[in-house]
Amino acid sequence: MDQAVSARGIAERHTGRIGGPITALREIAAEFGYIERAHMEGVADAFNLTVAEVRGIVGFYGDLNTEPRGRTHIRICQAEACQSVGARELTAAAVARFGAGLGETAADGSVSLEAVYCLGLCTTGPAATVNDRVIVRATAEALAS
Ligand code: FES
Repeated sequence: MDQAVSARGIAERHTGRIGGPITALREIAAEFGYIERAHMEGVADAFNLTVAEVRGIVGFYGDLNTEPRGRTHIRICQAEACQSVGARELTAAAVARFGAGLGETAADGSVSLEAVYCLGLCTTGPAATVNDRVIVRATAEALAS
């Protein structure tokens, strides 16, 4: 399947709508697992934007990833409130347990780790997400379950 055509097809469903490019990019990321240049070209064509403009949107939103993620994607808060209750230690334990550093995917593709800066759960840190599941007072064991 030609991914540019497919990405354009997804994008065309959202033309003429407020926030259409962002909605299209979110759907493309969900469909393909990440957003590559061909996808951005499809969105640019559908919305009469330049690829640079679409790349700007993708770069602004951290959830719009441009690289494949692990089958399990873990985000660990690195902001101050979570640091004060052990985020650095949690991160070190996760790196050791899953075999990937922040911003990396384990060699077998099982897990990817990402730094985030506040999930809005500051009073219950360290905070993390496993795929879309929120983990408060996170431990490495909780991230693995
Ligand atoms: S500082 Fe970690 S959730 Fe806000």
